[in-house]
Amino acid sequence: MILAERLVKTYGTGESIVRALKEVDLVIDQGEMVSIVGPSGCGKTTLLQVLSGIEEPDSGIVTINGFSVYEVKDRERSAFRLQHTGFVFQAFHLIPVLSALENVALPLIGLGVSSRKANVQARQALEQVGLGQKLNAFPSELSGGQNQRVAIARAIVTRPSVIWADEPTGALDTDTSHQIVGLLRHINRTMGTTIVVVTHDAAVASECDRIIRMENGRIISGAQRVTL
Ligand SMILES: Nc1ncnc2c1ncn2[C@@H]1O[C@H](COP(=O)(O)OP(=O)(O)OP(=O)(O)O)[C@@H](O)[C@H]1O
Ligand SMILES: [Mg+2]
Repeated sequence: MILAERLVKTYGTGESIVRALKEVDLVIDQGEMVSIVGPSGCGKTTLLQVLSGIEEPDSGIVTINGFSVYEVKDRERSAFRLQHTGFVFQAFHLIPVLSALENVALPLIGLGVSSRKANVQARQALEQVGLGQKLNAFPSELSGGQNQRVAIARAIVTRPSVIWADEPTGALDTDTSHQIVGLLRHINRTMGTTIVVVTHDAAVASECDRIIRMENGRIISGAQRVTL
């Protein structure tokens, strides 16, 4: 479970201060797939970065499965991120000089897994996203949709409990977007991974269990699951 309490995040000071998050409270249950939507600049990326341990809030608390993300040292927080979470970005963020297999194996190498074992697991993750035939291809040799699949394989290779995705379909056409969100949905259902997707695309948001709406640094609806 992801719990956020009274998150405040500001950028800059004085006249140029930006209040990106204004006392945000949020609960996401393990195994949910939720979307975060709202106008440009309302704080979606900031919220994702604060939840995921990338960007420390000015105040407030984030816990993920009981782990208090900002009550530990930076090193412990980085280790937690690597071990228990995965990231998917709009622009894929793959390393151009590494093959698909090498890109996907990287988080495992970071965790100290032997390269032989890492390669086996990376290959399995690429097969899971339908790229078993492209193990040795470089990012420049793959389509946008295929590169996003590689990025998703890299996100799942450590079997994380949470995947954070910031506009994962932002660079893709409608059909490819649909396939990518379908793949995320499949991972959510089969692996039980909690998935948090920031999106501008109403079709992507509608595939999720819940829509969290933001406006001007606040969540205006969907901050917790409604149980009937
Ligand atoms: N590193 C930064 N330094 C200063 N201001 C920032 C920084 N990052 C974000 N902001 C500001 O914080 C506010 C929220 O930005 P954020 O990137 O979270 O918006 P967003 O909802 O993700 O927008 P978009 O849909 O355009 O990606 C904006 O006013 C933005 O200009
Ligand atoms: Mg953003």
